[in-house]
Amino acid sequence: MTDLGKSTVYQIYPKSFYDSNGDGIGDIRGIIEKLDYIQSLGVDYIWCTPFFLSPLNDNGYDVENYLKIHPVFGTMEDVEELIAKAEERGMGIMLDMVFNHTSTRHEWFQKALAGEKEYIDYYIFREGEEDTPPTNWQSKFGGSAWEYVPSLKKWYLRLYDRTQADLNWENPKVREELKEVIRFWKKKGVKGFRFDVVNLISKPAVFEDDFQGDGRRFYCDGPHVHEFLKELVRDTGIKDMITVGEMSSTTLENCIRYSNPEEKELSMCFNFHHLKVDYKDGDKWELMPPDYRKLKSLFEDWQTGMQKYHGWNALFWCNHDQPRIVSRFGDEGKYWKESAKMLATMIHMLRGTPYIYQGEELGMTNAGYQDICQYQDVESINYYDIMLKAGKGREEALEVLRQRSRDNARTPMQWDAGAYAGFSKQEPWIALAGNYQSVNVENQEKDKDSVLNYYRKLIALRKEYPVIQKGAVAFLYPEQEKIFAFRRIWENQELFVINNLSGQVVSMEDGITCEGKYLIGNYPVKKEWNQLEPYESIVYLKERI
Ligand code: NOJ
Repeated sequence: MTDLGKSTVYQIYPKSFYDSNGDGIGDIRGIIEKLDYIQSLGVDYIWCTPFFLSPLNDNGYDVENYLKIHPVFGTMEDVEELIAKAEERGMGIMLDMVFNHTSTRHEWFQKALAGEKEYIDYYIFREGEEDTPPTNWQSKFGGSAWEYVPSLKKWYLRLYDRTQADLNWENPKVREELKEVIRFWKKKGVKGFRFDVVNLISKPAVFEDDFQGDGRRFYCDGPHVHEFLKELVRDTGIKDMITVGEMSSTTLENCIRYSNPEEKELSMCFNFHHLKVDYKDGDKWELMPPDYRKLKSLFEDWQTGMQKYHGWNALFWCNHDQPRIVSRFGDEGKYWKESAKMLATMIHMLRGTPYIYQGEELGMTNAGYQDICQYQDVESINYYDIMLKAGKGREEALEVLRQRSRDNARTPMQWDAGAYAGFSKQEPWIALAGNYQSVNVENQEKDKDSVLNYYRKLIALRKEYPVIQKGAVAFLYPEQEKIFAFRRIWENQELFVINNLSGQVVSMEDGITCEGKYLIGNYPVKKEWNQLEPYESIVYLKERI
């Protein structure tokens, strides 16, 4: 049984991690070659985003065959070696199961297209006229969520790209097929799974137009989702493995159910509410400075709510879909190092399991692309056009992408200051971020005060102190907008964590006295403060004897 409180997960986007064969694209052997580095972080699990056979229209989230490896990433033997070599180093591999949809190149969809009734039922097809989609629902990547197939005179649902057809989980055969996929990978020795947008799998019995939104209220945390998850977990025997569900537009109540061990669904959930506090009117493509009050109250609600009802949070700032956190809630300039460390402290000292996305441990920043041609992501390219059509100027639309594009996370991992940041010997498939000559692994290995070494300390602290693993959490200074502070308590240990979310000095009227042992921080140690420095972070531990 996984110790969720003690563990830290490292996320790898294989395409951008390390290219072992010089074709400009990262691969599985590249991960194998970097296992010593990953082990040196002290993490317990490595979650790899999909490397299965796929047309790669959504970089692997469009799976053509769940049991085959895309040749650009390597072979099945490479995956077996990765699993074995990670295990030798005390780390487990977690695979990404994209079960809400398949690629339209998947054999099941091809059979459906050929008119085979059995396979038409694997997807969500609806009769209809070519000019009238069954509902007005919108795709996450822009445009209608329905696609017409003239030869069948039917529409199919695709909440993402037109090449990602939603599966029909109401069909027991579909559920059985997906269980087989889990069994296959479990047998190979993987230690856990991440389930892509898994709270979208249960669609409503009746499809109706949404006059208040894009349709998501009808299918997020849908009618049978808990039932389907229980069945999947029970029939594949993965209850005691580490499992995390990516939950799109979810609720606290549902996440408690998904992750409360008594429900026998998943170990934990990703939710994204805290990463929407800079969306104007909830719209990702409209910029707004972060609302820190909202950020604080969201963390408080989710931390205390999950604690009270025995749910478990996946703690994270970054992944392959999110802009880099230091560019977003920190400072890429003067306080780059301080803010990267402060943001790390916030996440790693909370109750839950922390996830680190490749390069986050270096304080990697957004891509800073100046030209639309540099973008590769289907969502970014679609929304650039949508923004232009809606009346934004080119520069304005580019600025939105510079802040919001998923490609900000997908620039090559910065290994050293040499050609292509040491990622590849060839020009990489996607342009590098401009600062790789200063922000890279090689530089940070040499600097004991680096962001990288700070992450290593945070991971080690979690292993050492039960209060970080399982302490109860309570929030402090609610009235201070820019101060994110909390206490954690476990038996005789009490942890005190205070973070200044802003680039300004913040005065603490009554002053703060820290008692006990100083564990970590990003400024020289003090015992008493009447002010916090820009982006300051302090962690103290008091132990009663
Ligand atoms: C969430 C994944 O993280 C994202 O990259 C992908 O585009 C969608 N799910 C669709 O699979």
